[in-house]
Amino acid sequence: MNAKPARTRTAGKPATAAPARKAKPTGQPKVAAAANGATPLVEMRDISIAFGGVRAVDHASVDLYPGEVVGLLGHNGAGKSTLIKILSGAYPRDHGQIYINGQEAQIANPRDAKAYGIETIYQTLALADNVDAAANLFLGRELRTRWGTLDDVAMEAQARKVMGRLNPNFRRFKDPVVALSGGQRQSVAIARAILFNARILIMDEPTAALGPQETAQVAELIKQLKADGIGIFLISHDIHDVFDLADRVFVMKNGQVVGQAPTVAVTKDEVLGMIILGKCPPGAIPGPGAMAA
Ligand SMILES: Nc1ncnc2c1ncn2[C@@H]1O[C@H](COP(=O)(O)OP(=O)(O)OP(=O)(O)O)[C@@H](O)[C@H]1O
Ligand SMILES: [Mg+2]
Repeated sequence: MNAKPARTRTAGKPATAAPARKAKPTGQPKVAAAANGATPLVEMRDISIAFGGVRAVDHASVDLYPGEVVGLLGHNGAGKSTLIKILSGAYPRDHGQIYINGQEAQIANPRDAKAYGIETIYQTLALADNVDAAANLFLGRELRTRWGTLDDVAMEAQARKVMGRLNPNFRRFKDPVVALSGGQRQSVAIARAILFNARILIMDEPTAALGPQETAQVAELIKQLKADGIGIFLISHDIHDVFDLADRVFVMKNGQVVGQAPTVAVTKDEVLGMIILGKCPPGAIPGPGAMAA
């Protein structure tokens, strides 16, 4: 579907820059929640990590509000996955702070992240193919009866409840998940995350392997989660998907944030200019990776 752009490894490091033209006041995202002075659900501030000589993430700051979808865009190797892996506890950062609901968070491993309600859905989904949806939802966290046996009835009832909310058309509770469509499998993975009280969902390329119909199904799921107040970081190569779903986008290039913008304030072409050239349009708030005007 969405062809991956070629790896971008430009040698020239974009200079720290002022906006190309007069931009709106810098610093604060322009979503309704921010306008109300709400506290971000997540704030990653000045995050850096290097692998050997490669500055995979270079003083990047991003934030996310409850019920908001924030798209992370950028070429291959821009640092998107590495940045969110720091949030999910998969990588330790070299520099910077993470705040959850305004409080500094200590995230050193995936278990810490889960304790803050952060769940990640990887493209591979990591489902157990040969068992049904309910078994997948409770994998490793099975409900038991007071006699210590698996409480299949309770697990299926809860599975039906959470799946019913996410994907009301889902009926295939008795089938192994290997038999489900890509979109249905995605809803099982999302249900598993929210069953355990995810407030912050990270989706890394959720639609990369899906056809148009299934992509539409995932879009519906994302809208449901938004309505429930869950904040979502959505990483995608597909600028169209991101534009349809995200309230705001952050663009990364060479590990740096080029800028951020509410999707209503910029065009797709302008965002492409941010991705490819590092050029911030007037509707965007430039970051440290923005090209000099
Ligand atoms: N574990 C690692 N060891 C060494 N280098 C790494 C590691 N993970 C990422 N990198 C490097 O860090 C940079 C950022 O990679 P990252 O995977 O975060 O990019 P991305 O924006 O997610 O790209 P893609 O769109 O291809 O998924 C790249 O130069 C990559 O090669
Ligand atoms: Mg990636």
